[in-house]
Amino acid sequence: MIGRLNHVAIAVRDLNAAVATYKNALGAKVTDATPQPEHGVTVVFVELPNTKIEFLEPLGENSPIAKFLERNPDGGIHHLCYEVDDILAARDQLKAQGARVLGDGNPKIGAHGKPVLFLHPKDFLGTLTELEQV
Ligand code: CO
Repeated sequence: MIGRLNHVAIAVRDLNAAVATYKNALGAKVTDATPQPEHGVTVVFVELPNTKIEFLEPLGENSPIAKFLERNPDGGIHHLCYEVDDILAARDQLKAQGARVLGDGNPKIGAHGKPVLFLHPKDFLGTLTELEQV
């Protein structure tokens, strides 16, 4: 079921500072910031040869990463995203094994315009896990 690592997401307080760190210190190639009000975040992607790093900055009042940043004031790794061929088949297989899917259990359109689901961190080694159909 599980395919390539699509991205690692890092929650940050200050997107500009995060971009500057990756550009200046690491020489990374970074996309422009994209506000995603429907997800409560502004997103930047760092493009690496084998995967991407996603910076998430809170946007608006009820950002889903606000609590995370309260617990992790310096920011930190927020989730991992793995690619799957068939997200509904993956969801059904995982649910049959007792894994919890967040939200209403139906895929949403994620930051790349593709269907995504999130799996409960308690079922996956304490790590919020995203599946993306590619
Ligand atoms: Co993600």
